[in-house]
Amino acid sequence: MSVYLTIQQDAAALCEYAARHWVRRCREVLQQRSVCHIALAGGSTPNMLYRRLADADFRDQVDWSRLQFYFGDERCVPHEHNESNFRMVREAMLDSLPLVPNQVHPLPYFTNAAGAADAATAAAAYQVILKRQFSAATDFPSFDLMWLGMGDDGHTASLFPGTSAVAEQRRWCTEVYVERLHSWRVSLTLPVLNKAHEVCVLVSGAAKARCLEQVLCTPQQSNKGADLLPIHLLPIQRLHPAGDLYWLLDAAAAERMSADCRATLERVA
Ligand code: 6PG
Repeated sequence: MSVYLTIQQDAAALCEYAARHWVRRCREVLQQRSVCHIALAGGSTPNMLYRRLADADFRDQVDWSRLQFYFGDERCVPHEHNESNFRMVREAMLDSLPLVPNQVHPLPYFTNAAGAADAATAAAAYQVILKRQFSAATDFPSFDLMWLGMGDDGHTASLFPGTSAVAEQRRWCTEVYVERLHSWRVSLTLPVLNKAHEVCVLVSGAAKARCLEQVLCTPQQSNKGADLLPIHLLPIQRLHPAGDLYWLLDAAAAERMSADCRATLERVA
């Protein structure tokens, strides 16, 4: 695993950088393989990126017909719900792209007999979908490009601190009850995140600065070469993908990172 860091001046510059990175990575993958499997992040940060990719100048740079889209996590709500990550990505980007339905694999939504969200069934169903899509996978699927965000509590995807989901080492997808949100979610598990050929963590805004300083600049929890991961590590500090890990930040999110800390991470243009 190589770790790379870019700090862009503001959210708009970060979005441009991330969109260029998306194009570059897709072209790189499609030179070697027929299909590029991309896992998408939810939440608000990536919305600007998805919208930018749907703009004509970027849209025309990608062979969308050879991309397969998946979701790193999902809220347990119907796909048309305004909290749905699938709805967010569909409206920001997917509806503007020349795709056919079997290119997009949203996390399914199920309810139990009482009409409540059934996260466990959704997680199991998504694992069946992933096993069909990654039929050659021996242990876990390897996404060519995985986009992730980071919460101000150090969660990523829906792997929240203190939840059993963080420790899941067998399943590809798991249900998660998030106490502080009083809601169920479904998330890809850490083994899947760490099996990716490339992970890009997109972090923007001053609200993330304190957590990012802890995650990237606390020596014993360095992302480089940390073999013994103390159990108290935040979920996102357990991210050690097989491939490359890119931290794509804006200046506001990086404002608490010392110069030494920034220097310890590989810098990209
Ligand atoms: C979600 C995301 C989640 C997100 C972080 C950051 O479903 O909300 O998958 O992991 O990446 O919570 O969210 P923001 O980008 O909204 O700050």
